[in-house]
Parts: sequence; C-alpha cells; structure tokens
Amino acid sequence: MDTYQAIWNEYANKHKAALEAVAAPYQAMGLPIHSFVKYFNAETQIREKLHFAELLGLTRSAGLNTLDIGCGMGWMSYVAHHFGHWVYMADLPESFGVSIEAYNAGITALGMYKTYEFAVRRQIPLPQMDLRYDVITATGTCFEKNWTGDDWRFFLADLIDNHMNPGGKIFLQLNITVGGYPAIKGFNFAALPKIKKAEWTASQEVLITTQEAAE
Ligand SMILES: C[S@@+](CC[C@H](N)C(=O)[O-])C[C@H]1O[C@@H](n2cnc3c(N)ncnc32)[C@H](O)[C@@H]1O
Repeated sequence: MDTYQAIWNEYANKHKAALEAVAAPYQAMGLPIHSFVKYFNAETQIREKLHFAELLGLTRSAGLNTLDIGCGMGWMSYVAHHFGHWVYMADLPESFGVSIEAYNAGITALGMYKTYEFAVRRQIPLPQMDLRYDVITATGTCFEKNWTGDDWRFFLADLIDNHMNPGGKIFLQLNITVGGYPAIKGFNFAALPKIKKAEWTASQEVLITTQEAAE
C-alpha cells in the first residue's frame, strides 16, 4: 500500500464521518470553492501535506517536534502525526471569524488539538512556547499584508533564535494574494546568521535549513 493510501485509510476509518458532519453546514452556505471550505477536501489536503512532509524529510524520520503556524484545519500536523512526530499547532483565536470556527471544529473532528492561539504580527516576537521545534511550517499564508524584507528578517530570526533546535527546518508555502510575498521572494537568506541553506521548492514554497550547533 502506498503512503497516501495508508493515511487515507486511517482518515476513512477514524475521522471521515466526523469531518463530513462538520463540513455539511458550511458547504450548504454556498461559499466559493477557494474559500476555507476547500480544507474539507481530505484527498487534496492529504496529498498536498504529504508532499510537504516528503520535502521536509518527515516521512523518513519520527519523534521530531513540529510546529504548524496558521494551522487552519490541521492537515499538516495530521500527516506529520501519521509518521510519529510530535505535533503542535497554532492559529488565530475563534473571535477572528467563521473560518476559524470551522477550522477548530475540523481540528477536533480529525482528533487533533490546537496548542496555541496567537496572531503573527510584524516585528513582534512570537509568544514564549514550552519547547523548541525541529520543524516549523506555515502554509497557505503570508500572515499580514505588505510585509517588508525587514519584517520577514525579524520573523525568521525570532523563529531560529527563540523557537528552534539547531539543524531545524522551516517550510513556508506563501499566499501570493497577501502582500508580503514579493519581499520574501527577494529575500537574501544568506544574510541571516544560522541559515545553512534556503531553496525554493516551487515558486511559492521555500525550505530553509538552519545550521547544526557545531557549524
Ligand atoms: C489559507 S489558510 C491555510 C491553513 C493551513 N496552513 C493549511 O495549509 O492547510 C491560512 C491560515 O493562516 C492563518 N493566519 C492568517 N493570518 C495569520 C496571522 N497573522 N497569524 C497567525 N495565523 C494566521 C489563518 O487563520 C488560516 O488558518
């Protein structure tokens, strides 16, 4: 059985009925298919997040601490958890609206737990968390409008200095409709200390590897 099929089977056996029950009233609202209702499409989500997990090496390891910022319905963590990683999830509080309400219900249906509620804000450090992470992901987002290179520098330095283990990886899948995309696209990753390499794995996806402690 291939890896996708194994995750799908687990989903079908344990979580599909619950997620479909959560989805039904939102799908009945007639929202555009590119709105948050697309996260109810398990097949698309499992395939996409499995691809990200492969890029990050999560399919070839276990027991890493992973943090997904802007986790939405939690699909990245759902897939990471399948491979035996410790998953921590962060997103905005429910007061931010109907999409967060739907995501929260989806997270519960998937048997997951949202660990932190916070908003990423330009030039503001993330809140203190309980541990350091080996992998940090943020997918489908650019956080706020019009981030500059300085804003990305601050964010990445805060992640690396305060929230990551040496040798950790950051994966960003950027939402080009939010204005900070051009600034990260032109970002000089080599100018940031502790970054070993940064590679664009697709036009909207960047994988950053940080230096090991001894490097
Ligand atoms: C398009 S959804 C993607 C969800 C999920 N990452 C995925 O790929 O399946 C974007 C997510 O980013 C979150 N988000 C947007 N701005 C944010 C911010 N400033 N701080 C934290 N999360 C944010 C949204 O609440 C939403 O869950």
